[in-house]
Amino acid sequence: MLSRWSDQRVIGQHCCPVLRRFGISSTQQSATGVAVARSISDIRSLVGDLRSRDAHVTIVPTMGALHAGHIALIESSVSRGERVVVSIFVNPTQFAAHEDLSSYPRQEARDIEMAAEAGATAIFAPSPDEVYPDGFATSIQVHGPAQGFEGASRPTHFAGVATVVAKLLLMTRPDTIVLGQKDAQQVAVVRRVMTDLNLDDISLVVHPIVREDDGVAMSSRNRYLSSQERLNARALSRTLGHAKDLVARGERDATRIADSALAMLNASDGVVPDYAALVDASTFAPVTHIDRNTLLCVAAQVGPARLIDNSFLLID
Ligand code: PAJ
Repeated sequence: MLSRWSDQRVIGQHCCPVLRRFGISSTQQSATGVAVARSISDIRSLVGDLRSRDAHVTIVPTMGALHAGHIALIESSVSRGERVVVSIFVNPTQFAAHEDLSSYPRQEARDIEMAAEAGATAIFAPSPDEVYPDGFATSIQVHGPAQGFEGASRPTHFAGVATVVAKLLLMTRPDTIVLGQKDAQQVAVVRRVMTDLNLDDISLVVHPIVREDDGVAMSSRNRYLSSQERLNARALSRTLGHAKDLVARGERDATRIADSALAMLNASDGVVPDYAALVDASTFAPVTHIDRNTLLCVAAQVGPARLIDNSFLLID
């Protein structure tokens, strides 16, 4: 299958050694020099070849529309000397019917360029049919950390995430997967899945949240916001800062902190809060008294976008 992208050449023209050794017909090299695999067999061969040469292979799964948050995940792995495979796949099973699957931003050529510039070795950009072949009938249901919060507002979301992340891990068998703390509940769910399905020989690295200068967490969905809504979005990180101030002043009661955070979101222009909750970062169970593993998680509708943010509360 040849790529639709005109800036990619079929392997063999200006081919990197890893690919030349394969003679892979459908893996291509983009104009940027990064390998682009579209099929599961090609990404398997590519990762297999890297591993046979003792490379440490890291996967950074994404849905594309890359921004500085994604790039930080790639660059930190590259700086540790790892060979990074970036997957770009807008996973249909983690979107509910009324959500933004069809309008989710798609900019593959630019994403490939950005990932290459950040030092990625390969892109895995399969089609939905490649990932979910005809008759696909398996789904990973996660209880525990998938329940409540994002799981309550988006009841089918984490089954989709768990299924696709497990599949990506099985397809690529990397040494490491990197996820962003921005999606804290996703981290807890994936950690649970990796333990429960014996994928825990792969290490999970969590990268801190990357923020804009004004504190707003970077997100592909920020581009849905008008300039006024983008200003209103600052309420989420401001609320986290407010809660951290309460804790710094000695407050340890989770209900009082959560109530105060929710009141602040409620009082913010153009912000419709969904929740402000203090949870244990590993289990996502609500807590009553805070400790070093306590996260404050917030979610709110700001204009057309549902935004989430979080912070640990006890930080030395
Ligand atoms: P996506 O939203 O594209 O995010 C890909 C990865 O980038 C996730 O691990 C996410 O937490 C991380 N990320 C996004 N914004 C970030 C920020 N501001 N700071 C740090 N990390 C950030 O999350 C998904 O895609 C999907 O659910 C996926 C895991 C790819 C499964 O389909």
